[in-house]
Amino acid sequence: MKNETNVEQYALITGASTGIGYELAKLFAADGYNIIAVARTQDDLERVKQELTAQHGVKVEVLVKDLFGENAASELYEEVKSRGFVVNVLVNDAGQGVYGLFAESDIDQQIKIIHLNIVSLTRLTYYFMKDMLARNEGKILQLASVASETPGPYQAVYHATKAFVLSLTEALISEVKDSAVTLTALQPGATDTDFFAKADMLDSKAVQDKSKLADPAKVARDGYEALMKGDDKIVSGAKNKFQTALGNIMPDTMLADQVRKQQEPVNKKE
Ligand SMILES: NC(=O)c1ccc[n+]([C@@H]2O[C@H](COP(=O)([O-])OP(=O)(O)OC[C@H]3O[C@@H](n4cnc5c(N)ncnc54)[C@H](OP(=O)(O)O)[C@@H]3O)[C@@H](O)[C@H]2O)c1
Repeated sequence: MKNETNVEQYALITGASTGIGYELAKLFAADGYNIIAVARTQDDLERVKQELTAQHGVKVEVLVKDLFGENAASELYEEVKSRGFVVNVLVNDAGQGVYGLFAESDIDQQIKIIHLNIVSLTRLTYYFMKDMLARNEGKILQLASVASETPGPYQAVYHATKAFVLSLTEALISEVKDSAVTLTALQPGATDTDFFAKADMLDSKAVQDKSKLADPAKVARDGYEALMKGDDKIVSGAKNKFQTALGNIMPDTMLADQVRKQQEPVNKKE
């Protein structure tokens, strides 16, 4: 669906520099949305800005922000407001995981993941959704995951954060259903991005066969179309839809054991 209003529309996308967020930024720009692109790495964001302005003639604002930070989401919101931008679409894409057995992991890193995936996402949703409700206009796309539906041994905290994202989003959809504001949860399966390298997960059995990983452009397209239609959620990919449906009828303990076998390291010490 094209942005055919005469008024400039802004999409704020956290994690717009690489992977699924970058692919989403391209789709918004192709439809005429100006972009507020957020991530930690300025050079990557500047590259995205150059590309999207050259190809689509839209405005791209770069905001460098580390959303691991305690006050980062509040600062981001204040900066957007002080610069006078109205955010018509919020995309909460920035997210990370940590791979490994919970008891052997770095607890400070796990807490940072909770901060990025839950606390910053919740704050941004809160601030921008309030403004959207006041205008009775706006859309929010939340990066959940198929991991939202299953316990995730070797990625226990990550899966739990994505369960939070899905639950929060589904509750808010119900709360705002009498308004014109919509929220959509995008649930990708394993997708070919930098996610696994960042999570130190390249030894996991789940990511050995790159041909089984989804194309981030296809995932973004699924999410974008669902968002524009105002759908509640979208599981990207037929196989993921099937596995999610199957997961919903399996006991969680059995699911957890199945996921543990899929996620364990290739050279697991017995
Ligand atoms: N790939 C998958 O298999 C998969 C599956 C389901 C769901 N997802 C979800 O999809 C979302 C995007 O992940 P991706 O796969 O596209 O990974 P990605 O390629 O690593 O992209 C992550 C994006 O978020 C930014 N980011 C990471 N940490 C950040 C921080 N602390 N503060 C601000 N920005 C930060 C990154 O830029 P900088 O590093 O420069 O900050 C980058 O722009 C995540 O929420 C992830 O959980 C991914």
